Amino acid sequence: MDVVRQVEPLSMAWCLDCHRNPGPRIRPLDQITNMDPSLSGTAQPPRTLNPPQTCSGCHR
Ligand code: HEC
Ligand code: HEC
Repeated sequence: MDVVRQVEPLSMAWCLDCHRNPGPRIRPLDQITNMDPSLSGTAQPPRTLNPPQTCSGCHR
């Protein structure tokens, strides 16, 4: 049985790397429920997003 695995570190740096520049890492809005990981980074052009970078955005 090998059905669940962790593929990313879940570290704060991992969160912030994406929040600083999410465009190249996300998929088109109409593919948001598609589980295919190869679609990551195929959003052209990037959607308008505003992920938090301030401490209180994540630490509440
Ligand atoms: C692959 C990119 C990516 C990664 C990795 C990522 N995020 Fe985000 N996050 C986003 C984007 C994009 C948004 C903004 C969504 C929007 O504006 O609709 C967001 C929004 C958020 C928000 C705000 C939600 C709200 O309701 O305002 C929080 C909190 C957050 N992320 C926490 C985290 C934490 C904690 C991690 C790491 C464990 C993390 N994120 C990792 C892309 C990412
Ligand atoms: C995008 C979300 C996000 C933002 C913004 C963020 N953090 Fe974090 N932070 C995390 C996550 C997730 C962890 C847990 C990481 C882990 O457990 O490996 C964390 C852990 C920490 C820790 C604990 C480290 C440890 O060794 O236990 C401190 C201290 C911290 N953050 C401070 C800050 C400060 C100060 C800011 C603002 C400059 C900030 N964080 C902004 C997501 C965020």
